[in-house]
Amino acid sequence: MKKIITPYAADFGKPNVVIKHFPDNESYVLIPKIENYKKENVLVCHRLYPEPDKRIFELLLVLSRLKGLAKHVELYVPYLPYARQDRENKKGEAISADVLCRILKSAGVKKMITYDCHFLPRPGNFKRKGLTIENRSAGKQLMKYAKKNFGGEKFVVISPDEGASYFTDNAHRHLRYSLKKTRGASKARGVKTEIHADIHKIEGDVDVKGKNICLLDDIISTGGTIMRATKHLREQGAKNIIVGAAHGLFAGEKIAEKILQSSCDKIFITNSILASENSSKDRRIEILKLPKS
Ligand code: R5P
Repeated sequence: MKKIITPYAADFGKPNVVIKHFPDNESYVLIPKIENYKKENVLVCHRLYPEPDKRIFELLLVLSRLKGLAKHVELYVPYLPYARQDRENKKGEAISADVLCRILKSAGVKKMITYDCHFLPRPGNFKRKGLTIENRSAGKQLMKYAKKNFGGEKFVVISPDEGASYFTDNAHRHLRYSLKKTRGASKARGVKTEIHADIHKIEGDVDVKGKNICLLDDIISTGGTIMRATKHLREQGAKNIIVGAAHGLFAGEKIAEKILQSSCDKIFITNSILASENSSKDRRIEILKLPKS
């Protein structure tokens, strides 16, 4: 299969697409030697975060040149943005997960490969709005790191909510639990909508007293979930807590640092996101490399 690698996936191979920005910040895309892709199977490797709107549009420009030319187009995007709004919680809300899948399908993507997609319950092959999705998981890689981190010591594997509970499937001989997360509007801050609302509660009676903990989630965005969970676990007597996530978005000022200061000893994430926080020199933040395609 021939690969098209954008500059946002340069660590997956040598980029062979030109993406530039005009002075007004509109995007420009050029695929040199476009004729080489005629009737070929093509894998487009790209990243869709940060600046997801822009990255998505650039991807659509790339796909616009392959549609009708290439025989078969697949897409490798390690993190799929817009996946968290996957249902209508409030009447009139747009379901971004559906919109994005529909757009990619109609742009000619036959299969999308991604990691720990938020709207999917586990790794495997799925379809959404006609788009075929191969959902991989960084779960095993995160567990491997946790085992190495704790040496031969026992630890408890915990997910902060039900949605991420499949991450604990790799716990094997280690104990595992899922906490319960309740989101809701914050009266104090006058937030009326459920979206991005504060986490009211993380609860769950877990036997963590004096134990090492590996907390695993799919995404760290504002860090609210993780900080609430680690606080809860500390209150229950947890000893050392390390936090792993497939996608470290760190949406806000010094989120990783705040998490480390608050309660955990280590954060380990994958390179699904290219962001400044991820390249932090802080030794307590570890970036695990995903496969190149
Ligand atoms: C949501 O249910 C996800 O699994 C994550 O827990 C969530 O997206 C993390 O967001 P934040 O860091 O803002 O709490």
